[in-house]
Amino acid sequence: MLRNVRAIVSGGSSGLGAAAASHIVKNGGKVVVADLKASEENFWNMNRMLEEIVTPSQSYSSNNTQPCASSFSTSQVLAFSETDVTNADQVSRALDMAEDVFGKPVNAAISCAGIGVAKKTISKARENTEVNRLYQAHPPELFWEALDVNVVGTFNVARLAAERMASQEPEGGGQDTLRGCIINTASIAAYEGQIGQVAYATSKAAIVGMTLPMARDLASHGIRVMTIAPGLFRTPLLDGLPSTVEEELGASVPLPSRLGDPEEFGLLVGTILTNPMLNGSVIRLDGALRMPP
Ligand SMILES: NC(=O)c1ccc[n+]([C@@H]2O[C@H](COP(=O)([O-])OP(=O)(O)OC[C@H]3O[C@@H](n4cnc5c(N)ncnc54)[C@H](O)[C@@H]3O)[C@@H](O)[C@H]2O)c1
Repeated sequence: MLRNVRAIVSGGSSGLGAAAASHIVKNGGKVVVADLKASEENFWNMNRMLEEIVTPSQSYSSNNTQPCASSFSTSQVLAFSETDVTNADQVSRALDMAEDVFGKPVNAAISCAGIGVAKKTISKARENTEVNRLYQAHPPELFWEALDVNVVGTFNVARLAAERMASQEPEGGGQDTLRGCIINTASIAAYEGQIGQVAYATSKAAIVGMTLPMARDLASHGIRVMTIAPGLFRTPLLDGLPSTVEEELGASVPLPSRLGDPEEFGLLVGTILTNPMLNGSVIRLDGALRMPP
């Protein structure tokens, strides 16, 4: 059970983040979803699916655009905060909201907000461009965007959540002095980036890279840090692919030979939250998939 979990889940309206948020709520924990305005509708869809556990009166929206409780109490279990993770003030506001809803600061911060960028280091130049070359270099703004959302966004959620966790009394009793847990989401592209993934793979490798030093920084404060590196999961990220391509992708996974189910990601989040010995590591969740070039 995750009854004592008070989590912020970035990107929690869709895909892997929604699966993590749902898993926590279904197992008795509380979640503030920090996601873009554009994803708020997805949040409400998820909320409806969870309505047997979460009644509408237990839900709250930061901008009140949806029917929601006019007042809220610490019994609430699921809330939405309109947040762009690249904006530190907005992340802080989401953490403030979590404190209001839970009556205490978060003790879990799960980063699932992320974007994909598909562009080669150089690619064939479009015709009629001002520069008369055959090839065009990767646009730097796309590279920065991947780093901004995937790396800076993840770091913002982790560092600002850790600041609040550190000032709390340890929970759970015993000699472990645990105050919280941070879970980041990388990708197996961090290890086997494919053609056209230079920006994405760089950003995911940075998330892998921050895991151990952050765990070391925060160990004396009772805060664990883990990263999950998923393989191929069936999420809206893959929507729009023809079913034959989806089947081929699934068949490329050794065992189980299919795309991952987001619930399996949620399950691992639950395991990390409940097993205190997991710290400072990256777990591949990929059915033994190793991506080809
Ligand atoms: N689906 C996969 O197969 C897969 C594989 C490896 C890694 N991942 C990683 O898992 C994470 C989640 O992916 P997903 O498949 O669930 O994607 P998704 O597109 O379904 O969900 C991503 C969520 O992040 C949110 N988001 C994007 N930019 C944001 C920002 N600036 N601030 C706040 N929220 C923002 C989106 O609104 C969306 O709700 C991503 O980091 C992705 O790179 C996914």
